[in-house]
Amino acid sequence: MIVGAQWGDEGKGKIVDLLAEHSDLVCRYNGGPNAGHTIVADGETYKLKHIPSGILQGKECVIGAGCVVDPQVLIEELDDLESRGISTERLRLSGNAHLVMSWHREIDGASERRLGKLQIGTTRRGIGPTYADKAYRLGIRVQDLLDRKILRQKIEVALAEKNVWLERVYGEEPVELEGLVERHEEYAERLRPMIADTSLLVDRALRDGKRVLFDGAHGTLLDLDHGTYPFVTSSPTVAGGAAVGTGIGPTRIDSVIGIAKAYVTRVGEGPFPSEIQGADQERLRELGGEFGTVTGRERRCGWLDLVALRYAVRLNGMTSLALTKLDVLSAFAELPVCVRYRLRDGSETEEFPAHQSDFHHCEPVYETLPGWSEPIHELTDVSELPVAARRYVDLIEERLEVPVCLIGTGRERERVLAPGGLETLA
Ligand code: GDP
Ligand code: IMO
Ligand code: MG
Repeated sequence: MIVGAQWGDEGKGKIVDLLAEHSDLVCRYNGGPNAGHTIVADGETYKLKHIPSGILQGKECVIGAGCVVDPQVLIEELDDLESRGISTERLRLSGNAHLVMSWHREIDGASERRLGKLQIGTTRRGIGPTYADKAYRLGIRVQDLLDRKILRQKIEVALAEKNVWLERVYGEEPVELEGLVERHEEYAERLRPMIADTSLLVDRALRDGKRVLFDGAHGTLLDLDHGTYPFVTSSPTVAGGAAVGTGIGPTRIDSVIGIAKAYVTRVGEGPFPSEIQGADQERLRELGGEFGTVTGRERRCGWLDLVALRYAVRLNGMTSLALTKLDVLSAFAELPVCVRYRLRDGSETEEFPAHQSDFHHCEPVYETLPGWSEPIHELTDVSELPVAARRYVDLIEERLEVPVCLIGTGRERERVLAPGGLETLA
C-alpha cells in the first residue's frame, strides 16, 4: 500500500502509476475531490482527483466505501480520460461511498468564510461536511442513485435540514429540490454500470493471488485522528484506513510504502515547524513547481522534517520509504534537516509531540548537510548519485530505521531510481 508520509502532495500519484504496472488491481479508499494526483507519462500530463492512478496503466480500479464522491467531478474526470484515449471501463465504484452534494460544497465555503482568520484552509470541495453527514447518518450514498424513489426521498429529507442551516446560520440561498433530483438522475444513468460490491471484488482478487495496490490520498499529518487537528482533512489517511475504507481485514496488507518528498510542503493553514523563513521558501516553490493541483494555491515549503517523518513511520507501520523530488534539491549549497524539536521548556525531542500546544510552539533543531549541484534527473542507477545526495538519503535511512526503496529524480514516470528493482515492490 502507498501512503503519504507528510501533508499530502508527496508524489503518490506518480509512484502508484509506476507500481500499477506490476499490479492487477488499484484501490482508492479515502478522500474525494480534495485529492489531486499529477502523473506525467508519455509526454502527457494527467490530473486525477477521484480515479486511482492505476487507470493509466489499464488496470482494474476501485473507488472504495471510505471515499466521498462528487458525481459531477467524477464524470468530468471520466470524460477527460476517455477523450484522451484512456479506457475507464475497468473502474468500479462502491455503493457504500458517500456523495458530495451541492450543499456540502456550499457549507464548506460558508463555514470557512465564517471562521475568517481561524479558517482551516480547506479545498472547499465539501469534504468535511460530507464526512460529517456520513457520521450523522444523514448522508446520501452511491447506491441511493440506483433507486429513483429512494434517491428523491433521501435528498428531500437531507435538504429539509440543510436549507435551514444554509439560510438561517450562513445566510446563503437555499438549494432547490427538483433541479437537484433531476441532475442526480442523470448522474445515476452514467454511473450505474460501474457501481459494484467492491469489498467482495478486492477479496476475490486477493484470494486469486492477484496483486492489489492501495492508493492512499492526502498525507499522514492530515489524518483526522492522528494528524495536526483541526488542520486536517476529514478521512483516515494512515495505512490502517485502507482496510476500513476498502472493506477487507488488516491482515491482508503486507507492505506499506510511505511517500515523502525530500523536503516538505503544506497547503492550507496550520503549524509547520520546518517551514522555511526567507528567500529559499520562494526558490524551493519555484524549483519544485509547488502549486496545488486542486486549487492552484501556493504550497508552503519547508526543509525535511525527520521528527514528523518518524511519526509517520510509526503510524503507518511503514516497511519502506519512497523519497520523491530529490532532483529539486540539486540547487542548494546546504541542506538543513530538522532532526529534533525544541519545546517551550527548552528540552529537545525526536518524537512528535502528543499535545497540540507543544507542537504549535516547538522550534526545529537542524543538522545541516552539504548540498550538491549536479543535476540528477538523467541518472539511471542509484550508484551514480553525487556523494552528498547519497549522504542525504543515508541519513534518512539511519535516523528512521527504514529503507529507502525509491528515489524520485523528475516528474516523468521513468524518472526514478529503485535500488532493489520495481517488481519486488508491487
Ligand atoms: P500527490 O498528491 O501525492 O499525488 O502529489 P501531487 O501530484 O499533488 O504533487 C506532486 C508533484 O510533483 C506533481 O506535479 C508531480 O508531477 C511532481 N513529481 C512527483 N515526483 C517527482 C520527482 O521525483 N521529481 C520532480 N521534480 N517532480 C515530481
Ligand atoms: P493529495 O491526495 C495537500 C488539505 C487542505 C486543507 C486540509 C483540509 O493531493 O495529497 P479538505 O478540503 O480536505 O477539508 O481540507 O487538508 N488537503 C490536502 N493538502 N494534498 C492533498 O491531497 C490534500 N487534501 C486535503 O489543503 O489544509
Ligand atoms: Mg496532490
